[in-house]
Amino acid sequence: MDKEIQTNVEIFKAWQNGYFEGDPLKPLSHSTYGQFGFMSVLHATYLRCIKPYIRSNTIALEIGPGRGGWTKCMLDAQEIWVLDAMSAEFNKFYEYVGRREGVHYIEVEDFSCKGLPIEHFDYMFSFGCLCHISFDGISEYAKNLYDKLKPGAQCFWMIADFDKYNEVMKNYMRYSIVERHMPNPTNHAQLYRDLRKFYGENKPKLRAPNDGHSPAPGTWYHAGVSRTCEMLRQAGYEIVDEDVGTCLRDPIICFEKP
Ligand SMILES: C[S@@+](CC[C@H](N)C(=O)[O-])C[C@H]1O[C@@H](n2cnc3c(N)ncnc32)[C@H](O)[C@@H]1O
Repeated sequence: MDKEIQTNVEIFKAWQNGYFEGDPLKPLSHSTYGQFGFMSVLHATYLRCIKPYIRSNTIALEIGPGRGGWTKCMLDAQEIWVLDAMSAEFNKFYEYVGRREGVHYIEVEDFSCKGLPIEHFDYMFSFGCLCHISFDGISEYAKNLYDKLKPGAQCFWMIADFDKYNEVMKNYMRYSIVERHMPNPTNHAQLYRDLRKFYGENKPKLRAPNDGHSPAPGTWYHAGVSRTCEMLRQAGYEIVDEDVGTCLRDPIICFEKP
């Protein structure tokens, strides 16, 4: 046997039943990485949904950029077009993203997407926006964006699914990093209280159906992952992944224009 491998065999004998780092299928699994074993939902979503798709020749489209937190991750693209109901000035978009050639900000007044060129985009992304739009509204977007996308365009939409959301809220002990990793809070009572405060008191606040007729500021509309996927199929798209899973609380649908 090779000497190096023999040394390893001796070392790994210490792990009876085989070395086990942790369960990759469990999003909050313990590992030897300890406190460095976790990653933000935003960063994981960037790695899964943006980074592999943005190239120097990509023409990207984003719905609801706000100040441009996600847009800034796409700046390697050839062009980025963003649609937002608020003005760029209000969102302080250019202050954050910077003024760059190839970045086009469109302030929308409806779901028609009429300012966008036909068969132009090969990538679309939306996070934290469609959850504030009624199902009729997102259906309009899906329909009107279809001919703006090139065949093969990859799309990622975060939408609201109150069932997924409520499941997490009802089982926050299972999903909360604070609850999961402070198994004996009495030993660290003050730290535990501080952590809970820092991450928000985990009182389960469930979302109830909203008919969209009396929206309050920041209202969420239940779209539902199955219903949205069905609507996207009806509009002509193919579903690649009903939920990429980088956000435990809200689904992100990956779909493409065939
Ligand atoms: C909660 S913010 C999210 C901003 C950004 N995506 C983020 O995650 O940081 C929602 C954004 O969607 C925009 N918005 C609301 N309705 C919209 C619509 N019908 N079309 C496009 N943008 C819309 C809002 O103006 C706001 O900038």
